[in-house]
Amino acid sequence: MTNLHEVIYVSRRAEGVTDQVVVDDIVLPAGIKNKLLEITGCLWFSRDRFLQILEGPREAVEDVYSKILADDRHYDISTVSSSPIAKRSFARWGMRSLKNSKEDRIEELIHEYAPNFGASHSPLDAPESISILEQVREYLVELATVEPATN
Ligand SMILES: Cc1cc2nc3c(=O)[nH]c(=O)nc-3n(C[C@H](O)[C@H](O)[C@H](O)COP(=O)(O)O)c2cc1C
Repeated sequence: MTNLHEVIYVSRRAEGVTDQVVVDDIVLPAGIKNKLLEITGCLWFSRDRFLQILEGPREAVEDVYSKILADDRHYDISTVSSSPIAKRSFARWGMRSLKNSKEDRIEELIHEYAPNFGASHSPLDAPESISILEQVREYLVELATVEPATN
């Protein structure tokens, strides 16, 4: 597909947004809507964090992302990356949910690189940060492949 784009962001989960809300009210409808828009991706979540990867036609991804930015079920949203990609990492999933496992590596990466991840409006571009991003993406793809789907 031409014009393939990817957005990665991290955010904080709002209070009252239970796992059931995440799975039933966010991921399920998102999966259906995304498929119609040819968007795929994953939503990783821990007790207080989200990390989402959205991939698809640029315009569609940007439209959905603008809605996500205005959603009060999360806050402190930081765009980690927004760039063209050559191929999808989550082609099989409209929106794959990934609940953090204990001592999750993503949590570690977020905390370790919080200054970078926290810089809203300035997506990562340093080579070191790009390699962290590669690690995050690879790790999530691996999780998506091995973990039983919760949605
Ligand atoms: C963490 C999080 C992730 C979301 N991911 C998606 C998504 O991948 N696709 C989507 O359509 N909506 C997603 N949403 C929901 C949107 O914010 C929005 O509520 C939804 O697109 C409904 O828009 P509509 O009112 O135009 O139908 C997400 C919301 C949150 C809080």
